[in-house]
Amino acid sequence: RLPRPFTLPFRTPPVLRPHRTDATTDFYKVYMKPLQAEVVPGLQTPLWGYNGLVPGPTVKVAQGRQTVMRQVNNLPRKHPLLNYTPWTSVHLHGSPSLPQYDGYASDITNPGQYKDYVYPNTQTGRTLWYHDHGLHHTAENVLMGLAAQYQLVDPLERSLPIPKGEFDVPLLVSDAMFASNGSLYFDNHSESGMYGDVVLVNGVPWPVMQVKRRKYRFRILNASISRSYQWSLDSGDPMTVIATDAGLMPRPQKVQRFRHGAAERYEVVIDFSKMPVGRRVVLRNTSPKNNIDYENTNKVMAFDVVADPFDTSYNSVPDLLNPTNPAMLLTAKDAVRTRQLNLVREHGMWTINGHTWDDVVKSKFDLVEANPREGDVEIWEIRNSSGGWFHPVHIHLIDFRILDRNGKPPMPHELGPKDVVYVGENETVRVVARFEGRGKYMIHCHNLVHEDHDMMSQFEVLADHD
Ligand code: C2O
Repeated sequence: RLPRPFTLPFRTPPVLRPHRTDATTDFYKVYMKPLQAEVVPGLQTPLWGYNGLVPGPTVKVAQGRQTVMRQVNNLPRKHPLLNYTPWTSVHLHGSPSLPQYDGYASDITNPGQYKDYVYPNTQTGRTLWYHDHGLHHTAENVLMGLAAQYQLVDPLERSLPIPKGEFDVPLLVSDAMFASNGSLYFDNHSESGMYGDVVLVNGVPWPVMQVKRRKYRFRILNASISRSYQWSLDSGDPMTVIATDAGLMPRPQKVQRFRHGAAERYEVVIDFSKMPVGRRVVLRNTSPKNNIDYENTNKVMAFDVVADPFDTSYNSVPDLLNPTNPAMLLTAKDAVRTRQLNLVREHGMWTINGHTWDDVVKSKFDLVEANPREGDVEIWEIRNSSGGWFHPVHIHLIDFRILDRNGKPPMPHELGPKDVVYVGENETVRVVARFEGRGKYMIHCHNLVHEDHDMMSQFEVLADHD
């Protein structure tokens, strides 16, 4: 019943337009609502989408202009199969939003209610994403379709000769499994994660995209519930990584393959200029350890090289991209302290330092794993002693630099500003960051099944004069 890979056309989500703008702010309205879509040809799949679209519409904003997004929860009172109430909390992942707008898991909006989220857009240009973060149902809500890209551009990025416009392409990658009646299949009994047998790019199973003979920039977001990938091209050509989660790298990195955990964003430039017309290039996935693989999960999408004429401007990658990104200038010496975070499995639950989100709730939100002062630079040492699993760990609020992994330098594709770090089996990863902003923020595993069961805690940034 599943489509053959590379038979369905590639598409990108539409760009969301503000319904109102004033001197400082763009106002958007988004309705979360149910839809039926023919994801697998011949089957109707019930989904939930931002504005009824899966993936949701892409938001594009300019640095320095504030966004106000009204998020209306028009979802049904019960999930069609799982019988829970889809309360929602929208997180703009990659934004230093104030705590009340950060999509706190316990700050829920029930069906029939809405919430206005305010985003400052003051940070460096980057690919962010907005997705659901509703308490204990994030995995199901995101699998149903509540995820989309949000692109922030700044003047530095605009000044570079890198691909733009139609050659700057979002790739939101996810995986899913479908029951014979078309419904999504929820394997929510396993706490290790949800792994699908279908790989979707922008909601289409293994699509094929026509490309012109030039360079393209792909903003790859791994929006999967649990799956991590390792990308490579079947032509053997390298990819040039130009940006990580929190924006442009100091320098581009040419790689043959790279690993990509859930919630990470990597932007790559692929050069099709030397490929003959008619050539098909396949983006492949050689799965990292501890994923569950199926027949075609080693394939992602294909590019067919066509003879069409094209615009030759913005067709190069300079040797320097953003060498002065403040997060990337930090060194271990700048840190005033080092903190340890241990990822462990206890009593069938995933925990951080032995704590779960339920412990945070039970403490009336007093429990914090760390309380840096505003402006402090700290090293966080994240240790995975949970045995046999990897954890993509996301720290809200901050951009960090990866110092080392088991004492060794980060991999080439990780040499940029980050907000999620892949912590493999028995790995200890050190990151360094400056804490700016104030208040309580979440830290969690972005394998959403782990997050929901209950590998999530919080930290609090204190005012520096308290
Ligand atoms: Cu992308 Cu706390 O999430």
